[in-house]
Amino acid sequence: MTNDPRPATPVPPPETALPELPVCIAGVRFKNPVIAASGTFGYGREYRPFLDVSALGGICTKGLTLHPRPGNRGRRLLETPSGLLNSIGLENPGIPAFIEGELPALRKLGPVVIANLSGSTVEEYAEGARLLDAAPVDMIELNISCPNVKAGGMAFGLEAEAAASVVGPVRKAAGSTPLVVKLSPNAADLAAVARSCVNAGADALSLVNTFKAMAIDIYRRTPFFDHVTAGLSGPAIRPIALRMVWELGEAVKVPIIGLGGIASATDALEFLLAGARAIQVGSATFARPAVMVEIIRGIGDYMEERGFSTLGELSIR
Ligand SMILES: Cc1cc2nc3c(=O)[nH]c(=O)nc-3n(C[C@H](O)[C@H](O)[C@H](O)COP(=O)(O)O)c2cc1C
Repeated sequence: MTNDPRPATPVPPPETALPELPVCIAGVRFKNPVIAASGTFGYGREYRPFLDVSALGGICTKGLTLHPRPGNRGRRLLETPSGLLNSIGLENPGIPAFIEGELPALRKLGPVVIANLSGSTVEEYAEGARLLDAAPVDMIELNISCPNVKAGGMAFGLEAEAAASVVGPVRKAAGSTPLVVKLSPNAADLAAVARSCVNAGADALSLVNTFKAMAIDIYRRTPFFDHVTAGLSGPAIRPIALRMVWELGEAVKVPIIGLGGIASATDALEFLLAGARAIQVGSATFARPAVMVEIIRGIGDYMEERGFSTLGELSIR
């Protein structure tokens, strides 16, 4: 007791600890299944003022290419009903500069580090994989699904043969680093592309990248984006992405990382119940930077209330 007449400062309730929800993908242990999606979380450090970044299961970097790229010119983002169109292109400092300038700080944050690898040619992808294998990254996510570049990118992800032509050499060049291949929802036969990636050495698959879409500026009477088309993400795509994750579970046996419009624990649980081993969150982070922490908590609450002790018990297959 003191004689101080001032009212006591209210002490905020202690933050309850986040649930432990371990999950293993291709031999890599994640403390929970919630991963920041490529291109929406910088290199992790940018989000430190907004959430406890160390709480996340993993962080995917922005798409990295062998050489630096400035990304696309002109307008790059447009909100749509429940969605987001982007035409960022692959703006990044290049893999050597990433390894030297960004990776040390990213490693220190704690979550599993996933390098998202992009390129225009098979040789460029393979050389990038070789450099990343020699660096302390935990996994490579091979992006054969970017709709916003002229050469390479999504072109490799649309047909089974084209996909194998890059996954095989990258698998070899990646040495012992586990390889996730990120698929395009724009492929006409997604199951065939997925099987081909697994046969060529993919340890896991992630999907979806963005859907090819567009907008028109009625005042300028031009396409809204210089590249004409752009990639659609956000809640608008979620039910389609979920259906794709579900169907892929029939087509392949490797772990699947599901994403596309996840913005709450309920959304994340839908993907986990559909058979995803883990999930990624992209566009939702722009609106609510700490949403991934809410999702981790919500998954934990759901499991506790229903008496589940491991994430593996969740699948409804
Ligand atoms: C602004 C922006 C940039 C993106 N950049 C990349 C990228 O560099 N590499 C990649 O594989 N995916 C990239 N994506 C796709 C996301 O990682 C994710 O696959 C997609 O947005 C669907 O998830 P969401 O609906 O939760 O955003 C980007 C998405 C957005 C919105």
